[in-house]
Amino acid sequence: MCGIIAYIGNKQALPILVKGLRRLEYRGYDSAGVAIAQDGKINRVRSVGRIDNLDEKLKDHTVEGTVGIAHTRWATHGGVTEENAHPHFGCDGKLVLVHNGIIENYRELKTNLGDTHEFKTQTDTEILAHLIEFHYEQQKIHNETPDVRLAVEHALAHVRGTYGLVVMHADHPDLLVAARLGSPLVVGIGEGEHYIASDATPMLAYTKKVIFLEDGEVAEISRDNMETYNLKDEAIEKHVEEIEWNETQAQKQGFDHFMLKEIFDQPTVFEDAIRGRYNLLEGTANLGGLNMSDDEMRSVNRVILIACGTASYAAMVGKYAFERLAGIPTEVDVASEFRYRDPIVDEHTLVFGVSQSGETADTLAALREAKRKGAFVRGIVNVVGSTIARETDGGTYIHAGPELAVASTKAYTNMVAIMVLYALQFGRLKRVSPATGQRLLKALREIPAKMHEILEQKDLIKEMALKYKDYKDFLFLGRGINFPVALEGSHKLKEISYIHSEAYPAGEMKHGVNALLASDFPVLAIMTKDQLYDKMRSNVEEIKARKAPILLIATKGDEGAKELTDDVLYVPDTMELLEPLLNTIPLQLFAYYIAVELGRDVDRPRNLAKSVTVE
Ligand code: AGP
Repeated sequence: MCGIIAYIGNKQALPILVKGLRRLEYRGYDSAGVAIAQDGKINRVRSVGRIDNLDEKLKDHTVEGTVGIAHTRWATHGGVTEENAHPHFGCDGKLVLVHNGIIENYRELKTNLGDTHEFKTQTDTEILAHLIEFHYEQQKIHNETPDVRLAVEHALAHVRGTYGLVVMHADHPDLLVAARLGSPLVVGIGEGEHYIASDATPMLAYTKKVIFLEDGEVAEISRDNMETYNLKDEAIEKHVEEIEWNETQAQKQGFDHFMLKEIFDQPTVFEDAIRGRYNLLEGTANLGGLNMSDDEMRSVNRVILIACGTASYAAMVGKYAFERLAGIPTEVDVASEFRYRDPIVDEHTLVFGVSQSGETADTLAALREAKRKGAFVRGIVNVVGSTIARETDGGTYIHAGPELAVASTKAYTNMVAIMVLYALQFGRLKRVSPATGQRLLKALREIPAKMHEILEQKDLIKEMALKYKDYKDFLFLGRGINFPVALEGSHKLKEISYIHSEAYPAGEMKHGVNALLASDFPVLAIMTKDQLYDKMRSNVEEIKARKAPILLIATKGDEGAKELTDDVLYVPDTMELLEPLLNTIPLQLFAYYIAVELGRDVDRPRNLAKSVTVE
């Protein structure tokens, strides 16, 4: 996720763009840049780090003009460097653009352009500038009047992936072209001026009148006019809407908290995580960054997943995936334990550090220890260019976008997705058949729609939360692959509502925890239709007999669940290995609504930090 702001009007663009970038910094903050057109030239200034750094750098430059584009980056492809920061040029320094999204086939497109275009960055975005420039030049070669919008449309016809983009051309100073597929863009309408941005936040100080671009739309925007087309170049009628949000609401896209927004981001960022990372025909994953030959991969006889907190519960799901698909014995180690345990690893051990921030001190120290002892050490990380990403010898970014709420939600689901893909990639080198791989990948592709189905039940989940909010203790139960889900549900409830809760594998109940069961001790049990369903059901029957209030997560269609309790939240059916991707979501929402109801500071719970960089 990155932030885009563009302006065309009669005021100086620079102050508007810089102010706009500050409003958008929540969408990405590793580097930023502006480009402004004037007198047939484009002036571009970029800087690594937050907007303050860019602002400082701009003091040494004169960047004047009334049309410009700007970007604050959250890196996905290519490290955090000034070279990789947007805006990006084509070859002749006249066409420049900013982009939010992922271009899946950028390597292929680069190859197709051949060596007539020189690339200067490691980003997936730069290809867009060159491709649009190529189509623009083709128009000239064919003696057509050069038309930036048409060049954009022709270029986008070859692109696979997602984009929200704004293009500016030095020879067309009265024009910006915006296009959207999968990444939001809003156009703000002022008097003789237009604003274009990733969300309405940066334009609210100037106008409340906006037009939301939809997927597959391309807009040609001048000072006084805006025309919108679809990718078949047919004109589209757009409606002007009046925005009622204030700035903070707009940043949260109308959600009350970042946590809620991030829970609802999950279907979209899940698609970002898996996009372009599998081959359905061969039934395998193709996560490129592992930096291991097939032989090295086959030589791995043990996997260790190192993580903390929510990342460690995601890793526990990963363990199931690695053992089931790849047949490799896999352990999950909490980083703070691993680093002091004198761990046994060797050159056949593959160690993954799993971390949203990529800065967690314990995880980092544990990975250093594993590296020292000769293991393959790789990262599964969200923040590009973070310390773990830099210090490991490869790995994969989970593409969840900035996660601002302290409670991790969308990073968890994307971590699970990546570990499942890795497990499949290893599995296909050993024992998994193409057909099994294809079945798994098809089921993975259905996950976003199923996540939506769960999110649509938010009102019912809220109702349950209100019913249960006053209990002082909770027990979360799961079995098999749903035990880590129970752990994560309990973790979420604790950290944002401050209610005491525990999670147990349901089979352990009779070894001690049964003694706690009573009418004031609610049990949230995950009883979806997996291979342990019957056993889990028996456990729930026992709890019912002991009069503890029961809230069930059950598979859609399991009417029998209603015999055990009135309180059932249904989730869609999926392959057992993928159940945590769905079953965790009602638990995130349950914790969220209880915390809100109890008046907690949901996005910034007491005593916790987003990034734990100290031991
Ligand atoms: C998650 O809700 C927590 N805030 C916390 O447990 C977190 O998952 C843990 O600190 C690990 O962080 P990391 O993923 O950035 O390494």
